[in-house]
Amino acid sequence: LTVRASSYADELVKTAKTVASPGRGILAMDESNATCGKRLASIGLENTEANRQAYRTLLISAPGLGQYVSGAILFEETLYQSTTDGKKMVDVLIEQGIVPGIKVDKGLVPLAGSNDESWCQGLDGLASRSAAYYQQGARFAKWRTVVSIPNGPSALAVKEAAWGLARYAAITQDNGLVPIVEPEIMLDGEHGIDRTFEVAQQVWAEVFFNLAENNVLFEGILLKPSMVTPGAECKERATPEQVADYTLKLLHRRIPPAVPGIMFLSGGQSEVEATLNLNAMNQSPNPWHVSFSYARALQNTCLKTWGGRPENVKAAQDALLLRAKSNSLAQLGKYTG
Ligand code: 13P
Repeated sequence: LTVRASSYADELVKTAKTVASPGRGILAMDESNATCGKRLASIGLENTEANRQAYRTLLISAPGLGQYVSGAILFEETLYQSTTDGKKMVDVLIEQGIVPGIKVDKGLVPLAGSNDESWCQGLDGLASRSAAYYQQGARFAKWRTVVSIPNGPSALAVKEAAWGLARYAAITQDNGLVPIVEPEIMLDGEHGIDRTFEVAQQVWAEVFFNLAENNVLFEGILLKPSMVTPGAECKERATPEQVADYTLKLLHRRIPPAVPGIMFLSGGQSEVEATLNLNAMNQSPNPWHVSFSYARALQNTCLKTWGGRPENVKAAQDALLLRAKSNSLAQLGKYTG
């Protein structure tokens, strides 16, 4: 049986390697308008296009960001938007040596027939949207689906999550975008770390089975897993070394070395916790580039420092650069606090 490979195969491999380059990771700044609204409300700002533009201009024009950040995930609005001084956001990223990426999923809705779980929409029209995003300068994509431990996960929810991710990955590769495969196992719950490990094994087995079945080119994908940690409400906390042990054990068991990069989400960990955990995972060589694709763990202090005031832009950019540099060091296993 011969299967037609994406005509973009070489480019996909090259893009994935560029994003997974030593000492760099991804800035996730693809909050949907609704989520961005929550972030802006936390500093007393209205959720207007102008405020979203001002904030995202601040992020991407932080001087020297490209030294630590190899890719930025954008929401559709940002991909087509200009900065406050009229440059295309995409061009500013490219000048910084940062590859533009795009969130392509259409968000979560209730999964009928499940235990109050969700599934992720966005496959309809995905091929034509991906082609248009490529034209606009995007070179990688993100699709985030979630699995909840307190609600199951049911076999149905895991199957649906894996199938959706695999279809998305095949379609975006066909259109020149490197898919970030993100089945987020939510932190919520009182369960211990062993339960997270068990669920993560189940989820990644199913995801890779489906990726293979859909003829996805493993050298041309990136993963965005959650770290294996205890549930957020679990009383027994784990040290960075324990998180690293469990998470690396999971990756070794489930992720083929053909995959170039594992870019973790921060999922509500504090900024420093996310850096320490990443650093612990890079204390010995790994078969894949093990790095970050953080939103909150890169942006929290930056956003607060900005507070919507033009006079705070520089201080806010410094806060972003501090987190970016710390995580860059953690990617190299050299973060010392
Ligand atoms: P957090 O790092 O804030 O979890 O966000 C990453 C992300 O992009 C979730 O899809």
